[in-house]
Amino acid sequence: MYCAGICRFLSAILLLAWVCWTSGAVAQHTAAIATAHPLATQAGQAILKQGGNAFDAAVAAAAVLGVVEPYSSGIGGGGFWLLHRASDGREVMVDARETAPAGVRREHYFDASGRPIPGATRQGGTAVAIPGAVAGLTHVAERYGKLPLARSLEPAIQHAREGFPVDARYAQIAALRERFLQKGTGTAIFLDQGRAPQAGFLLRQPQLAATLERIAREGASAFYSGRVAEAMVAAVNQAGGAWQLSDLESYRVVERPPLRFIYRGATITAAALPSAGGIALAQTLGMLERFPTGAPGDARYAHFVVEALRRAFYDRARYLGDSDFSPVPVARLIDPNRVGRLAETIDPGRATPSDALERMPVNPHEARNTTHISVIDDAGNRVAATLTINLLFGAGIVAGDTGVLLNNEMDDFTVAEAVPNAFLLQGAQANAIEPRKRPLSSMTPTFVEDARGVLVLGAPGGSRIVSQILLAILDYLHAREIDVKRIAALPRYHHQYWPDRIEIEPEGFSAEWREALAQKGHAIHVVKRRWGNLQLVFKARDGKTAAASDLRGEGLAWY
Ligand code: DON
Repeated sequence: MYCAGICRFLSAILLLAWVCWTSGAVAQHTAAIATAHPLATQAGQAILKQGGNAFDAAVAAAAVLGVVEPYSSGIGGGGFWLLHRASDGREVMVDARETAPAGVRREHYFDASGRPIPGATRQGGTAVAIPGAVAGLTHVAERYGKLPLARSLEPAIQHAREGFPVDARYAQIAALRERFLQKGTGTAIFLDQGRAPQAGFLLRQPQLAATLERIAREGASAFYSGRVAEAMVAAVNQAGGAWQLSDLESYRVVERPPLRFIYRGATITAAALPSAGGIALAQTLGMLERFPTGAPGDARYAHFVVEALRRAFYDRARYLGDSDFSPVPVARLIDPNRVGRLAETIDPGRATPSDALERMPVNPHEARNTTHISVIDDAGNRVAATLTINLLFGAGIVAGDTGVLLNNEMDDFTVAEAVPNAFLLQGAQANAIEPRKRPLSSMTPTFVEDARGVLVLGAPGGSRIVSQILLAILDYLHAREIDVKRIAALPRYHHQYWPDRIEIEPEGFSAEWREALAQKGHAIHVVKRRWGNLQLVFKARDGKTAAASDLRGEGLAWY
């Protein structure tokens, strides 16, 4: 009897804990973290427990992600860190995006007859941009953290040195990229005796551990000069690149003001250029504000979301690039009057063919495989950091004995106007390859603040990052009840102006939904696999938190 009572009591507690864990319901902690991998979430959590703040936790988690998801991010890559400091409300985007090396030349990407060289921005030395990740990690730790960098790097060093059992996601991605890893430079370290490993295989990266230890001891200079830098230059140039040591020595992060705007009473803070994401959010939400709201999954409403995305991606292709190199008319692009005129071109009953956008009077000149961390701490500091080496396993080059896997971020540039990149994104001169320039990105770390609290979010997915964030914001603001797990699970659709079609996930869209959009003239393209990996944390005004990690991934949320 007694036992039965206790058992019932214990099961009730367990059930409650389980419900809190899985439902995204608001819990008791006032800190929360969600990342794409359980070991990264645990590292961030441990750092918070040791007295670190959200910035230290994000540094620890980012460094671990680079070790345990080597196909997604790492110290050979870059990213954007959106920060909010509670003590003074400072909000900043730490731009740790890779840069083109000073020695890039047209002939690296075009043959003698002027045709683009296939793969030049994706494989080999010409694909690799100067990594910003280490400058980002050290900058965030030193400028904003409370703990020494060495402490925050400890978990990453441990997982690299001692190894970690690879998960099903790793096994699947390595199988997909098996040939690439077999043929790459030094990439056999990601395989098990030359073959894609099974889940559970212990992946050790002792050389990467040694490089991380040097960074922990000496700071960023251990990466940007000396033997690690020399090894990277040698590996890239051997593979056909044109790097110089000075490219690494002169790399700097840039602190930029994030893009901020109001949408239906909520303040949205998002990545600024060289990310295209914040601008796309300002434009799409600005257009949507002109129409009655709806649930993002509703077919009638989806038509407006798609039309807004189409127009924002058109602008992206035409006008966006690194504004440190050529002026981008950001203020005019997101000007409410112009956004209003864009919205007026949306026909509620009919899809606008993307080709027709060329002819619309909305020109602003008329007057003339990535990862994410969301974390919030007790004090209210917050970080949304999206980090990448671009495509799965980047350029497939590990530099000498450093364990550093290099990115292929050069593919985010526009090689030529009609040549789409791996995400089928087109662009113009504003995003052309130029020495020391940063390629345009879709990474969109974002904060959403309203009367209920603050939502911190971000995701990988190339061009589909923008629509993931947009759908999440629309759902968060539309639904009465805040359920971050539901937001992460929403079925996803996407439009990016070209190709002129709505891409949808294979599940979650009924025949009626498809039919309703097809009737308006939309082409529907069902993508084979679900996409994205949204990481969300929410902190209510009373301090209580909730968090969710996308079930499409293997991540973990703690709150
Ligand atoms: O910066 C960008 O937009 C891309 N390099 C991001 C790549 C990405 O999200 C890959 N994930 N699927």
